Amino acid sequence: MRGNKLVVLGAGGVGKTSLVVQYLEGFFSSSYKPTVEDCYRHTIQMPDGIFHTVEILDTAGSHHFPAMRELSIRSGRGFVIVFSVDDKQSFHEVTELWNLITKLRGSQVPVILVGNKSDLNKERKVSEAEAQEIAKDVMNNCRYIETSAKYNVNVSQLFVQLLLQAKAME
Ligand code: GTP
Ligand code: MG
Repeated sequence: MRGNKLVVLGAGGVGKTSLVVQYLEGFFSSSYKPTVEDCYRHTIQMPDGIFHTVEILDTAGSHHFPAMRELSIRSGRGFVIVFSVDDKQSFHEVTELWNLITKLRGSQVPVILVGNKSDLNKERKVSEAEAQEIAKDVMNNCRYIETSAKYNVNVSQLFVQLLLQAKAME
């Protein structure tokens, strides 16, 4: 039993911590402090009204901790893979993370692809269509959601959706 651990993965600086902090604490900070690893416990109310306690694991974006990344993937119940719509390199890293998940866990795990910083439309380098395509063709038809941690767009939906998927696969 892996519990209800939802693991947030993605390249450095894409907004993983900002998404988690916006979701759990309801605020956004524009300062940037790279994460090593943080785990939060939280109770999510599902659309049917039932509460589930989850752990949300906010991981490091850098490649400095590959062993930690593997451990987090082995322990996860569901995964959020985040890139930033203004950062093409972070989008390329999505495939790398997906490959690592499938290598360690197979392809039948709940995964949501997230394009964060949707508020930065002028700086956009990855189109919605491009991301949808990867989700469909490479990532086993997983769901793609665009978020803004800054303006709290689609943030709670993302975590609820992932937990719903995890529950549906029980
Ligand atoms: P690592 O911990 O190093 O992997 O980074 P991270 O993915 O946790 O990124 P973090 O949440 O620390 O955010 C990095 C920077 O992007 C910060 O300056 C945030 O304020 C900014 N940021 C995060 N989300 C958004 C967003 O939705 N919109 C905008 N405009 N900026 C964002
Ligand atoms: Mg972080």
